[in-house]
Amino acid sequence: MTTDTVSVRCGVRRVVRFATLLAALLGLAAFGAVDGSAAAGSSTEDIATGGSIFQKKCVGCHTIGDGSLLGPDLGNVHRRREHAWLVRWLKDSETMVETDPEARKLVAARGQSRMKSLRLSDQEAQQVLAYIEIESAKKAPGAATVQPVLALIDARSTQSPSVAAPSEAPAPVLTGAAFEQAKNLYFDRCAGCHGLLRKGATGPNIEPAHTAELGAKAVQNILTNGTPGGMPALGNEGILTPEHVRLMSAYLLMPAPDPPAVSFEEIRESWKLLVPPASRPKTPVTKRQWDNYFGVILRDAGKVAIVDGDTKELAGVIETGFAVHILRSSSTGRYFYAVGRDGRVSMIDLWPETPTLVAQVKGCVDARSIEASKYKGYEDKLLIEGCYWPPQYVVFDGQTLEPKTVVDITTPAYDTGEALKEVRVAAIVPSHHGPQWVVSLKESGHVAIVDYSKPGFPVTKKIAAERFLHDGGWDRTKQYFMVAANMRDQMAVIDVKNGTLVTKFKTGVRPHPGRGANWEDPEYGWVNGTTHMGEGKLVIYGADPARKPQHAWKVVREVALGEPGGLFIKTHPKSPWVWLDSPLSNEPNGTRQICIYSKKEGKIDRCFTASARGRAVHFEYNKAGTEVWVSVWDREGELIVYDDKTLKEKTRIEGDWLVTPTGKFNVFNTAGDVY
Ligand code: HEC
Ligand code: HEC
Repeated sequence: MTTDTVSVRCGVRRVVRFATLLAALLGLAAFGAVDGSAAAGSSTEDIATGGSIFQKKCVGCHTIGDGSLLGPDLGNVHRRREHAWLVRWLKDSETMVETDPEARKLVAARGQSRMKSLRLSDQEAQQVLAYIEIESAKKAPGAATVQPVLALIDARSTQSPSVAAPSEAPAPVLTGAAFEQAKNLYFDRCAGCHGLLRKGATGPNIEPAHTAELGAKAVQNILTNGTPGGMPALGNEGILTPEHVRLMSAYLLMPAPDPPAVSFEEIRESWKLLVPPASRPKTPVTKRQWDNYFGVILRDAGKVAIVDGDTKELAGVIETGFAVHILRSSSTGRYFYAVGRDGRVSMIDLWPETPTLVAQVKGCVDARSIEASKYKGYEDKLLIEGCYWPPQYVVFDGQTLEPKTVVDITTPAYDTGEALKEVRVAAIVPSHHGPQWVVSLKESGHVAIVDYSKPGFPVTKKIAAERFLHDGGWDRTKQYFMVAANMRDQMAVIDVKNGTLVTKFKTGVRPHPGRGANWEDPEYGWVNGTTHMGEGKLVIYGADPARKPQHAWKVVREVALGEPGGLFIKTHPKSPWVWLDSPLSNEPNGTRQICIYSKKEGKIDRCFTASARGRAVHFEYNKAGTEVWVSVWDREGELIVYDDKTLKEKTRIEGDWLVTPTGKFNVFNTAGDVY
């Protein structure tokens, strides 16, 4: 989403045109008379440019002399702060919060900056500071040399739609039609990024406790003007009217209502078959080695890029809609299925010349998981989507996405028997030994077995495990499913063949294995491991009950990592290494760190900073298992390709299209569940 909209651009053009006129009128080349300031030495063009930067990047959070919004009032900020400090702040405020005592004081209450690093150039910082200085002076008359100019700038200000702070009237309590309207607006315009229950997703948490702290005025302003951190200027773009903006600011101060149910009929209505199977190629048309494609999620762009794993070229970009969460492959690998946080499923055919979107459907209003049927005889036949809301899963035809059934999975808590309103479907894995999907029910703490050979695709068993199940994957034999109950600091082990809980055990603060990693340890036989969100620790546990029963499902090694905030661990059967990231570290350099564990040595071989910007996140191997791909999760994203033998960087894939790359899925490895 971009804030660089038509209306904003018009505003900018107006400012620039005005300034040009102004300069011509006054014959002014520079504001040389304002000593020791940003305005000194700045031309009218500079100040006009500064004004347009301010309109585009600052008005969502700041005023100049009209009071605080989300950020402090910037009136006369040049009198409170050193010029060099301000320039540094505008270049990289987040790093300053880590290193500069003044900056730390500024954000002390929260401990973390709410102003994202703007990465302005020196010149842009200079220009916007000059503009702020001029505007400040207007609020505090006295700087004679500036006055005549200001009078003219005033004429422009009154026409500017963006700066005017919206109504300050106290937020009314919404009822009836107004409430319904606000609710619908939220579902249509906000839920994709902030989550249905406002708990946050792409955008931050905006539950009432938080929005009350911001206040209605700051909320209205941010809805109108947006921010460069990814909040669209919905008001200025004309998507929300001023009336809508007031309505939404009141709505956000009230608790979120229950989101709607999604019926089978509604799911059917959402189904779009864009290319029917009969119109698709019978054999691969592309000359590329499509089973070494990587599907790359471009998180904030709402797209999936398909990159050729051999040539590293872009094979195609598919528009999937906001907030794609994961991709899974059909069992032959021909199709990628993408699931968005908004519940939309997109099916991509990899055989045409260019990868092609062939069908879409929306089975949930909020979702995280999807999986294909992988048992013999069911290849590319069926697909399951697990919902975060409503509490249900949906089964689709694997060739067309035609919905086949919806199954309610509301289940009481496994331990207390408490009835639960919200039961979210977390990780789903496909059995390769039977016609089954293994479905984690987060809040109730069960692992459900869905038998897709039976009519209606029913749950045939619910295995009590632990509450708040999140993510997990298979052991080497694909008999045991290991899943993290991350709020309980535990891993649970399910014997899927026998339909039983084997055991559960503590590993550390919030384990996050992703799909996990399996390898052979010189001492403990086959093992599996997890990294942790809440502490810098790799924990390895035995997973070889046949040969090493004494170590099975017990922690056998704990390895300290520098950084907490780990999300993914990865290896390949052919690799001597295990790769670990820490993108949620609270230290900027920590978010870019990669650590590599040696299977043979049983210790960390090295940790290094992979990138100068963004976060290093998620690993994927190529088909041959010789390369590891890592995402630099940033607006100017990159994919770094390492040689898995030497650990040397082979290449960096770059391009305008690489906006916020996160998860990557190699066709061969994803289809075969190689991890
Ligand atoms: C998303 C909201 C947001 C945007 C957009 C934003 N700021 Fe900020 N700004 C803040 C917040 C909040 C603070 C207070 C410190 C913090 O939390 O980071 C702040 C602090 C500041 C400070 C320090 C103020 C002081 O009192 O010391 C300056 C200067 C500043 N911002 C300038 C700008 C400029 C110039 C722009 C546009 C180019 C901008 N900001 C864009 C939210 C924002
Ligand atoms: C394209 C995704 C997207 C959409 C759509 C979106 N937001 Fe946001 N929103 C964000 C992001 C990202 C931020 C954080 C911006 C920043 O830090 O600069 C944000 C910030 C906010 C904030 C400020 C929170 C804070 O503490 O900084 C509010 C309030 C908000 N959004 C409300 C809404 C509402 C209401 C809607 C719908 C009318 C909406 N947003 C639609 C992405 C989105």
